[in-house]
Amino acid sequence: MIFNRNETKEVAVLLGAGSMGTAVIRRFAAGRKILFGDISQANLNRVCEEFIRSGYDAEGMIVNAMDKDSIEAFAAKAASLGQVKYYVHTAGASPSQGTPEHILNLDMTGTGYAIDAFGKVMAEGGAGLIISSQTGYMFPVPYEVEQQILAAETDELKNIDFIKENAVTSGKAYMIAKRVNHLQAMKAAATTWKQRRARINTISPGIIVTPLAYDEFNAPGNTYQNMIDSSAAMRTASSDEIAEAAAFLLGEHAGFITGTDLLMDGGVIPAIRTGAYKLH
Ligand SMILES: NC(=O)c1ccc[n+]([C@@H]2O[C@H](COP(=O)([O-])OP(=O)(O)OC[C@H]3O[C@@H](n4cnc5c(N)ncnc54)[C@H](O)[C@@H]3O)[C@@H](O)[C@H]2O)c1
Repeated sequence: MIFNRNETKEVAVLLGAGSMGTAVIRRFAAGRKILFGDISQANLNRVCEEFIRSGYDAEGMIVNAMDKDSIEAFAAKAASLGQVKYYVHTAGASPSQGTPEHILNLDMTGTGYAIDAFGKVMAEGGAGLIISSQTGYMFPVPYEVEQQILAAETDELKNIDFIKENAVTSGKAYMIAKRVNHLQAMKAAATTWKQRRARINTISPGIIVTPLAYDEFNAPGNTYQNMIDSSAAMRTASSDEIAEAAAFLLGEHAGFITGTDLLMDGGVIPAIRTGAYKLH
């Protein structure tokens, strides 16, 4: 039986079929074709099964979100399915999941490749969302370096002196990569995505309870508990809360919002910036 003839041929794409991404894409799934990309076949199978069994039209593709060719093939596949209306990017690794090099390749350069590739296929009126992180606010990047980042091609980012000199631990590489994400979206909003009449923004989540976050909770030290306790919200959040904000940013009511970041951290960064919480 054909549940949905998808006559509009609108496509919603997710790269990184994990917790936050699937919560976001669910908000845009109805009546559209969903294309999931992930490095893990097991993840793709589980997520496609879950969506298809709920009546959605979904398919998956193995993609390595660090590899330019793989991402370009993914964008081409998305375009072949219809009008690419939504692009959501959540492929990432947290500090305890990889070396500094892995984190820069995936969270920074790979995100850049995806923004570049989808900047060639987005439909007019489409919208994109990159999931960055509150950590993008934790390691200040000087203004002149931000200008270098904005001027650089994606492949050149890792050769910027500031990045080479500072991204020496996984934690610092993650903080820098997530700040770079804000600038990548800002640049695309003003250039490639603008030319296609599509919008792109980032969300910087705080502590969201997902398998990725559990890897951090299990890391040595009390950093996460201290962040929770010193924040205004004094709690963690769920992927569904991120999806709520994502639905706004990707939706038509946010038609005047592009190239910006929404910090959703329950007040962790305000605590750090005002000295209520001292980051070591
Ligand atoms: N969970 C948090 O507390 C938190 C907070 C701030 C930011 N973030 C960011 O949000 C994003 C999503 O995180 P999540 O918590 O939903 O994690 P998750 O682990 O549920 O999802 C990440 C997905 O990315 C996929 N992935 C990893 N490497 C890949 C690669 N090379 N190619 C393709 N896919 C790959 C994984 O298989 C997984 O499905 C990440 O960028 C993360 O850094 C998470």
